[in-house]
Amino acid sequence: MSDHSAEAATRILKMAEGFQPKVAIVLGSGLGPLADLVEDPVVISYGDLPGFPEPGVHGHAGRLLLGNLGGVPVACLQGRAHAYEGRIDAMKVPVRAMKWIGCEAIYLTCAAGSLRPEVGAGSLMTISDHLNLMGGNPLAGPNDEEVGPRFPPMADAYDPALRALQRDCAAAIGVDLAEGVYAAWLGPTFETPAEVRMIQGLGADAVGMSTVPECILARHCGLKVTATAVITNLGVGLSDETVDHAQTLRAAAEAGKDLQRLIVCFLERYAA
Ligand code: HPA
Repeated sequence: MSDHSAEAATRILKMAEGFQPKVAIVLGSGLGPLADLVEDPVVISYGDLPGFPEPGVHGHAGRLLLGNLGGVPVACLQGRAHAYEGRIDAMKVPVRAMKWIGCEAIYLTCAAGSLRPEVGAGSLMTISDHLNLMGGNPLAGPNDEEVGPRFPPMADAYDPALRALQRDCAAAIGVDLAEGVYAAWLGPTFETPAEVRMIQGLGADAVGMSTVPECILARHCGLKVTATAVITNLGVGLSDETVDHAQTLRAAAEAGKDLQRLIVCFLERYAA
C-alpha cells in the first residue's frame, strides 16, 4: 500500500479488540453530536492514527468512534479535513482505512446551501449525484492498483438501493427528504451570487465544500456510498440572509437532529 491506510486499519482493529464495523459514517460541520449515540464506543483520536488529518475547522472534533448504532457496528469519523485546507486528498487514509477494517458502506454527511428555493434551511437532501467543481481530484497522481482501478466509474456513485432505503426511512419517521445533485465548491470563500447562478445553471441542487472527495475515494476502493446534506441556508443571493460559518453551525445543529433520526432508522433497516 502506497499510503498509511493499511497501517491505520491494523491499529484501529487492535485498539477495538475484535470489534468489526460494517458501516462508516462521516460527520460534517455541526453534526458531531450523532457520535454521542454510539453505544459504549472505543474512541481513537485522529492524532493516534498514521495519515489521519488533524481537522482545522471549528465544529470538527477529529476522533474515530467504534461501537453499535441502530444495531449495526459502525465506525464514526467525527470531523473531516477539507480540500480548502490545502489537500484535496486529505481524507484518503481515513476513507481507505474504513474499507480495510471491513466496512461495506460509508454514509457521508455535510452542511450545504440549497439552490432550490423550495428546499429551505433546516431541510435534509440526500445526494443523488454530484458535480466536482473543486478543480482537482483526490485520485490524481500515481494509481495504487491494490486499492482500485485507474479510471473508476462514477455512474450510480450514490448507491441507488441505499438511497431508496433513506427515502423509506424518511417516510417512516415523518421527515421530508429532498433529493438532488450536490456541487462541490473548493472554498474557503462562499460563492458569489454570480457563482451561485452559474452552479444552478450547471444543474446542481445544493452546494458545499466537502463530500465529493470522500465519495470519489470511497468508490475507488469499493465502498458503497450514501450521503445526506443538511441544508443550512439558501445559496448566496437567493435570499436576504447572510451566509457565514456561524449560521451554518447553528442550522446544522438544529436540522442535524432530524438527520440523526434518519441515520438511526437507516442503520436499523440496513441491518435487517
Ligand atoms: N456554500 C458552500 N458551502 C456551504 C454552504 C453554502 O452556501 N452552506 C453550507 N456549506
